[in-house]
Amino acid sequence: MPIIAPSLLSANFLKLEDDCKMLNESEADWFHLDVMDGRFVPNISFGPMLVEFFRKATKKVCDVHLMIVEPEKFAEQFKNAGADILSVHIETCTHLHRNIQQIKSLGMKAGVAINPHTSVTALSDVLGDIDLVCMMSVNPGYGGQKFIPQTIEKIKLLRKMIDERGLKVQIEIDGGVTLENAPSIIAAGADVLVAGNTVFKSADPKATIALLKKI
Ligand code: DX5
Ligand code: ZN
Repeated sequence: MPIIAPSLLSANFLKLEDDCKMLNESEADWFHLDVMDGRFVPNISFGPMLVEFFRKATKKVCDVHLMIVEPEKFAEQFKNAGADILSVHIETCTHLHRNIQQIKSLGMKAGVAINPHTSVTALSDVLGDIDLVCMMSVNPGYGGQKFIPQTIEKIKLLRKMIDERGLKVQIEIDGGVTLENAPSIIAAGADVLVAGNTVFKSADPKATIALLKKI
């Protein structure tokens, strides 16, 4: 069964308490929390303060996706805010290995996120050190974009790289996941589905999460 990680970026921020309650009662596994800085990506979302509120609102895993430059400056703040998993973008890390060690030494699971243009082969030398690959299937910055079809081949290749080495790294697919394309994403080898608009813009978010979980 896939892990379902609804992205709170698509929630109603005037009614966050209701949306957290809905997720807590749903079959969702993780809260996916998108942090954007207006520099690495052309949008600004929220920072550690809101992560801390989400932490208080749920016992589920807080999966924090940093779309920020110089993530090493904020890793400790996100740990203190309650992040369980912290993902940094490979495109923002000159010393990626050091970033990964920092996250792990702070006691969080370490994720590496890659943009659609970044080859999964760039992960080869850190694959043994990380817990998660957050593979972007849209260009990061906004919810509600269209899934980039070439992602399917990237998932297959990464799955092969992980399995050949007997690793336990989870593959998370982030962006444009729908009820229609989710089966082929899972069939290609993904473990975790992020879903923003598909969940929060649906008529019955809880039922949509249940459907994603059944894939
Ligand atoms: C995009 C974010 C995603 C996004 C997913 O930059 O990383 O997590 O919110 O939203 P949907 O599922 O609507 O594409
Ligand atoms: Zn994300």
